[in-house]
Amino acid sequence: NKAQAWSARFSEPVSDLVKRYTASVDFDRRLAAVDIQGSLAHADMLAAIGIISQQDNADIQRGMAQILQEIQQNAFEWSLDLEDVHLNIEKRLVELIGDAGKRLHTGRSRNDQVATDIRLWLRAEIDTSIDLLRQLRRNLAELALQHAGTILPGFTHLQVAQPVTFGHHLLAYAEMFDRDAQRLADCRKRVNRLPLGAAALAGTSYPIDRERVAQALGFDGVCRNSLDAVSDRDFAIEFCAAAALIMTHISRFSEELVLWMSPRVGFIDLADRFCTGSSIMPQKKNPDVPELARGKTGRVNGHLVALLTLMKGQPLAYNKDNQEDKEGLFDSADTIRDTLTIFVDMVGGIRVKPDAMRAAALQGFATATDLADYLVKKGVPFRDAHETVAHAVRSCEEQGCDLADLPLEQLQAFHASIEPDVFDVLTLEGSVAARNHIGGTAPERVKIEAQRVLDETR
Ligand code: ARG
Repeated sequence: NKAQAWSARFSEPVSDLVKRYTASVDFDRRLAAVDIQGSLAHADMLAAIGIISQQDNADIQRGMAQILQEIQQNAFEWSLDLEDVHLNIEKRLVELIGDAGKRLHTGRSRNDQVATDIRLWLRAEIDTSIDLLRQLRRNLAELALQHAGTILPGFTHLQVAQPVTFGHHLLAYAEMFDRDAQRLADCRKRVNRLPLGAAALAGTSYPIDRERVAQALGFDGVCRNSLDAVSDRDFAIEFCAAAALIMTHISRFSEELVLWMSPRVGFIDLADRFCTGSSIMPQKKNPDVPELARGKTGRVNGHLVALLTLMKGQPLAYNKDNQEDKEGLFDSADTIRDTLTIFVDMVGGIRVKPDAMRAAALQGFATATDLADYLVKKGVPFRDAHETVAHAVRSCEEQGCDLADLPLEQLQAFHASIEPDVFDVLTLEGSVAARNHIGGTAPERVKIEAQRVLDETR
């Protein structure tokens, strides 16, 4: 059992199964680069306060540079016996530089080390995802600008409700993704605090300079309580919650893409590179990418619940439970990164079919509300107007026509105040153009909003 860092205390080795069960190196090795980055800042600080010599520090920096290279070139030999990324790297450092390597862990524990690693790693992931959300909003806004005046039915209960512009519809998602980016930016503030210096749980008796390490690693400050620093993973939970909301928005969008691409609806076509065929049905072009994105939302939501549950029963301070924080967190970050990257490209390749959208908007009495509003402007109370139009719709349904198809005399039979100008509001164009206020669907507004998003995402 000589391989283990604590071997002297133990009289028998763990079984192979227990070794595998407790080891994390298979997944936490992706923290290697940030682990080394943290170690270098720690060593620098130890040298600056005279706990290790400048020569030790120089050896550590040299040894770590070689280790990083070995890892990047896939030449590093990872060992399950050494449990995790931290012990693997430390062992190799000692092999390379001897006693100086053994001094690196002075005033430090794997508990504050791993918390630091996760925060460094997560900070970079957050920055990547914020940028992808920016690109996605930009592509949505570009398409929205092109389709500021393209009309499709807006739905409630999946039934035709009122006409809206496609640009307006797309910009709804741009709003969601904007809030998602804001959530990540807010989460980043709490991620970006340095745990190192908390040591195992109580701090350390060495006169360490935590602020110096924080600055070297780009943290905004240090964690103010050592027990909290090593034990809480709330920052990771926050990230998983933000990731779950991103996927939830992506999933709603995906559901619409699938629906719009269904031959029954036919509002859009997705580029072939995001679709697959069927091994049996030659006619098929399936929107696999949005369907998978919708499906992957489940795992990201699951990781959030897993992390919350992981945390809820833990007494202060560090417990090995926390080793279980990583796979779900990694997977959430991977899933949103890959999904957003694909969606940035996919949105750019949406082919819109305005004729099908328009035809659908002309069915289902989408301008019924406009007729009621028209009557209100002629002095009819809204509730009475609502009732009048309901009669008109019913009559259209019986005759198998649209409101705009009724001759003026028939409309006037429903209400005497109806005049020839009624046909202006019964058209789809008239309906959307009338909703010309902040947040409305009028083409003029959509152009302004799309331009705003384009300016914001430059
Ligand atoms: N691999 C551990 C983790 O991921 C590192 C800290 C281990 N500390 C300990 N005392 N067992 O949390």
